[in-house]
Amino acid sequence: MTKIVRLKKPNKVVLKEIAGDLKKGKTVVFPTETVYGLGANAFDAKAVKKIFKAKERPMDNPLIVHLAFKKDLKKLVLEISPMAQKLISRFWPGSLTLLFFKSKKVPRIVTAGLSTVAIRMPSHPIARALIQEAKIPIAAPSANIAGKPSSTRASHAFEDLLGKVDWIIDSGSVQTGLESTILDSTQFPPVLLRPGAVSKEQIEKVIGKIIVHATISKSRSKKIVALAPGMKYRHYAPNAIVWLVASKKLLELARHEHKKRKIAVFTLQKKSFSGCKVFYFASLKKMAKELFHSFRVCDQKGIQLILVESVSEKGIGLAIKNRLKKAATREIK
Ligand code: TXA
Ligand code: MG
Repeated sequence: MTKIVRLKKPNKVVLKEIAGDLKKGKTVVFPTETVYGLGANAFDAKAVKKIFKAKERPMDNPLIVHLAFKKDLKKLVLEISPMAQKLISRFWPGSLTLLFFKSKKVPRIVTAGLSTVAIRMPSHPIARALIQEAKIPIAAPSANIAGKPSSTRASHAFEDLLGKVDWIIDSGSVQTGLESTILDSTQFPPVLLRPGAVSKEQIEKVIGKIIVHATISKSRSKKIVALAPGMKYRHYAPNAIVWLVASKKLLELARHEHKKRKIAVFTLQKKSFSGCKVFYFASLKKMAKELFHSFRVCDQKGIQLILVESVSEKGIGLAIKNRLKKAATREIK
């Protein structure tokens, strides 16, 4: 049975009970500023195994460890380079995940046997209060069934995980809507493995040029060995077919396709797309926040094809486009 609790802000009594359960090896869906996470005690291999089972996640896909205190980092890693230190000072708490060489304290199951561990310190007040209360690092992937869009509202976690986890903390919509940025800071120059809420430009301002891993701009049909193991799987995908379409082709394609099937259009243009279910986003920030929810709405409405307007790769655009490329089966330029 899953216990559900609604929290707008941290509540010490409630979070103490949930933290107690985390220490006993239970699993908890909790909000972060990026997406909802499905957490368990990172030091407890048995508890971590429950995450993989609930999500139907392949065991070779490692998890991110979440901290509430910077001082807890040194127990989990072999070294913290001056460059990592700079990034931590600038971006933690926040949406930047860094890779470190793991210490023996991190169980193999968390890193799927890799020698590195991915770590971040979320900024969401409830996530922070929960981890502080539990006084243990929390291993947590996004709170969705593997391959589906990440949960950006608790209702998404209900859809995917009700009855499969011990707790769901419902705090409404998250702030960003896309997952954290993952940077491999064990390499030089550092490598961006997953673009996210913290942009490449913001990182480069702090540490200079970084390398963007080849998988990031590739469509999911293209075969490239993935550095972040999770990136090789089908991802962020609704049931509907997704096509990524250049702005100038969108209207014409929508006119043509809506005669054949039930379609939706995700667009940044305030135009009328007659016969289509239209999702209009006033900015890239709003698109990031609503993208995964909109995918789920399309599934509920039985949409067969989603035409998504392509976006620029600047700022949060790089992360949006990366998720769209992983979800799309066709790119129309
Ligand atoms: O915003 C986020 O990062 C959310 C919230 C809950 O914190 N978490 C999240 O976790 O998106 P998940 O498991 O859905 O995505 C983590 C990604 C996966 O693609 C995984 O392969 C990669 O991080 N990863 C984890 N550890 C890694 C490692 N040691 N080396 C390379 N990639 C790693
Ligand atoms: Mg995920």
